[in-house]
Amino acid sequence: MYENFYGFKEKPFSMTPDPAFLYLGSKHSTGLSMLRYGLLNRAGITVLTGDIGAGKTTLIRHLLNDATEDFAVGLISNTHESFGNLMQWVAVAFDIKSESDSKAILYDLFARYLIEQYAAGKRTVLIVDEAQNLDDATLEELRLLTNINADKDQLLQLVLVGQPELRTTLRSARLVQFVQRIAVDYHLTPLSADETGHYIEHRVRIAGGPPDLFHQVARRFIHYQCSGVPRLINSVCDTALVYGFAEQASQISAELVFDMVTERITAGLFGAGHIKYDDIEAETPEQAYKKAMSRARRRAANYLRRSHKEIDPQQPFVEGTKSASGD
Ligand SMILES: Nc1ncnc2c1ncn2[C@@H]1O[C@H](COP(=O)(O)OP(=O)(O)OP(=O)(O)O)[C@@H](O)[C@H]1O
Ligand SMILES: [Mg+2]
Repeated sequence: MYENFYGFKEKPFSMTPDPAFLYLGSKHSTGLSMLRYGLLNRAGITVLTGDIGAGKTTLIRHLLNDATEDFAVGLISNTHESFGNLMQWVAVAFDIKSESDSKAILYDLFARYLIEQYAAGKRTVLIVDEAQNLDDATLEELRLLTNINADKDQLLQLVLVGQPELRTTLRSARLVQFVQRIAVDYHLTPLSADETGHYIEHRVRIAGGPPDLFHQVARRFIHYQCSGVPRLINSVCDTALVYGFAEQASQISAELVFDMVTERITAGLFGAGHIKYDDIEAETPEQAYKKAMSRARRRAANYLRRSHKEIDPQQPFVEGTKSASGD
């Protein structure tokens, strides 16, 4: 839609975790280094947590692309409530064929697979994404898999990746044995304001667009609205480009993003789950929500006014105008 207008070869803010767009700011590069460190140092269990949409799956995809022939890597990423028999998923992850679904048979086949890889000089790594959905019993089963040994070497390395609830689950007293085996762990936090600006520029550049497409104040404002969470940043930037194209704006200004975001705030979707309104007195939750939305709008406008003063004093922000800086 807007690709030609802005000179993109492809959409810069797609919602799928594409390693080609990987941005390695300080948090993501530390996360990646920790994952690599865990793999190379034969860590029994490595844990990567991070907020929803922070970039965990993106990092794992990158790690997988990067994995050398010395590793046999299996990935389980489907762990919703009906997860069922862990061994079946392990077998699928490593492409182990079996006529039977029996846990004992699959366990035996997997143990043999581990020994074969070991004999071939390979290390076997099982990555479980969305691990926040795993219950205690499944985590315990996973721990038992990491107990399989040959000589004195442990044959399976486990990498668990999940949202912050995973950390809460692991803190429970029942999982002490599991936690003692965690050699490396890292929590991926959202991007800082500067990183958000670089992230936006980076994705625009990879897609072939002009690096300064998003005005400095717009970048700052997007960080504020999205709290530095990459998936939200992608969503806001993608919609901002649609609005920009509709207005034939050569640059995405903070005003344009403000108008777009506040329209979505009013429609009640943007900020859902982020905007708190339990402190607002109102007769019905609906009214409280509406009040919260207008409060969010006011705060956003104030933030934008301050940012303009700091970053671009020549162009003060006046709410209600659609004048896009740069066009
Ligand atoms: N470092 C990064 N470089 C480039 N894009 C990123 C980065 N981190 C996240 N993204 C983008 O943000 C979006 C969300 O990332 P991802 O799916 O990896 O998050 P997640 O932490 O796995 O989320 P969830 O908790 O829902 O599983 C993706 O579209 C991805 O492309
Ligand atoms: Mg994910």
